[in-house]
Amino acid sequence: MRIDPEQTVARIGIDDPRSLVLFDRFGLDYCCGGTRTLRQACEAAGVDLATLQRELEALSESASTGERDWGAATMTELADHIEHTHHVFVRETFARLAVLVPKVAGHHGAAHPELLQLEKTVRRLAEEMHDHMIREDRVLFPWLRRLDRKSEIHTGPPWSVRRPIDYMMHDHDEVGKMLREIRGLTDNFTPPPGACASFRVMVSLLAELERDTHVHVHKENNILFPAGVRAEAAEMERRGAIQGNTAGVVPGCT
Ligand SMILES: [Fe+2]
Ligand SMILES: [Fe+2]
Repeated sequence: MRIDPEQTVARIGIDDPRSLVLFDRFGLDYCCGGTRTLRQACEAAGVDLATLQRELEALSESASTGERDWGAATMTELADHIEHTHHVFVRETFARLAVLVPKVAGHHGAAHPELLQLEKTVRRLAEEMHDHMIREDRVLFPWLRRLDRKSEIHTGPPWSVRRPIDYMMHDHDEVGKMLREIRGLTDNFTPPPGACASFRVMVSLLAELERDTHVHVHKENNILFPAGVRAEAAEMERRGAIQGNTAGVVPGCT
């Protein structure tokens, strides 16, 4: 199948989630930068468009792995999936990193001073992601599930769902910056020659955290959140109740 370079990378990732693995390999930003076209994303990442296009087209011809089409799922199904897989993975990974990173930094910080900065950044990222997931689990995802059950929409807060979504997308940008910093501090997730087993496991966990977070944020930014905005707009239209309250700012909504 021909891949149109003017399609957004988000669209390509939704149509065939296997392409996300290729995007990661080529260093393309498809989660926070998902609204860029393939051509623009390749330019930004310094990637040869024709090469990636060929690989994407070859991928589209190969047999599907049977991964679920999340673009066709309900918001409830997708929110449940994100909570039960990505949020669980993040919590489990940071629990392991909370032991490993200080241990590796303590043993090897003298020879590798960048580990001291790595320890600080990983701690900051853990705090940020834990806090962020609590707000998704307790506020935004229940809200999106209510939007799925149209009859209960009136029980939601009196302001637009765009408000918490904007906060969440801002958090995703910040998480992306910290992950890029971690990538730099670990030499693109490459352990130094002769690194001990703990050092290697730590680097591999950080690489896996980056990969999983890219897919996690893609599902939220490019599929779940736009579905929430569309569902709210459709419901407001149905009720004839668009009265300019979508721009309402209510303190403490996230
Ligand atoms: Fe999430
Ligand atoms: Fe999120």
